[in-house]
Amino acid sequence: MRKKIVAGNWKMNMDYAEGISLFSEIVNMVRDEQKGDQVAVICAPYIHLNSLAKLGGNTVKIGAQNCHQNESGAYTGEISAKMVKSVGAEYVIVGHSERRQYYAESDALLLEKTNIVLKNNLIPIFCIGETLDERNNGSYFDIIKSQLTNGLFSLSEDDFSKVIVAYEPVWAIGTGLTASSAQAQEVHAFIRQQIQAQYGEAVAQNTSILYGGSCNPKNAEELFSQQDIDGGLIGGASLKSRDFTDLVKTFNS
Ligand code: 13P
Repeated sequence: MRKKIVAGNWKMNMDYAEGISLFSEIVNMVRDEQKGDQVAVICAPYIHLNSLAKLGGNTVKIGAQNCHQNESGAYTGEISAKMVKSVGAEYVIVGHSERRQYYAESDALLLEKTNIVLKNNLIPIFCIGETLDERNNGSYFDIIKSQLTNGLFSLSEDDFSKVIVAYEPVWAIGTGLTASSAQAQEVHAFIRQQIQAQYGEAVAQNTSILYGGSCNPKNAEELFSQQDIDGGLIGGASLKSRDFTDLVKTFNS
């Protein structure tokens, strides 16, 4: 059975004190309400990771939002996967569309990052998704296919089995424009088919594929009930303890 996962992405929000306060609320609320075996994760700025990992225990896991592709060295200002691992984080978001767009991260670079994340026994949450133009001109299946092929499909089966995929249509991120459950399910089913063609049915059935893009407690129930949607990667709503907890709770209802 593949895992049901709700992962928050705080992006560049929350100073240290604000982050501790919000996370403490989230842990208390999730602990009270989490009934099933769904996994709750918060991907926070680097400065929070050490403290949050201690506060989260087994209730809320911790992830980083990025890391460098090299093991160590003269890369001023960068953070390695080994450093992320050393403070107790378990996940790393790789290839978020904001990093692809603002930092020109290519599929080839993202493959390097995924490899270093896996080498350090961290779980990559690998993001893919099309822009509005690509949705409107009908090329979105080709875009998704090439992001998967170039970013992930040269991994060994063993390595790929550890990856979480997140489908985040760029046009739905932070815009309030959520993909309809039918639009999201269509792409998630396509992603699973591509994984099956590359790695076989067992791997495809065990891969968690998360939806991200203006996901909130109001629309999550319908999205998360789709056959190929195994949870969410949540931006804005992960900055509110009640909303994030309600999203985790959605899997109980
Ligand atoms: P929003 O939920 O704010 O649209 O952000 C989604 C996202 O980018 C999560 O990584």
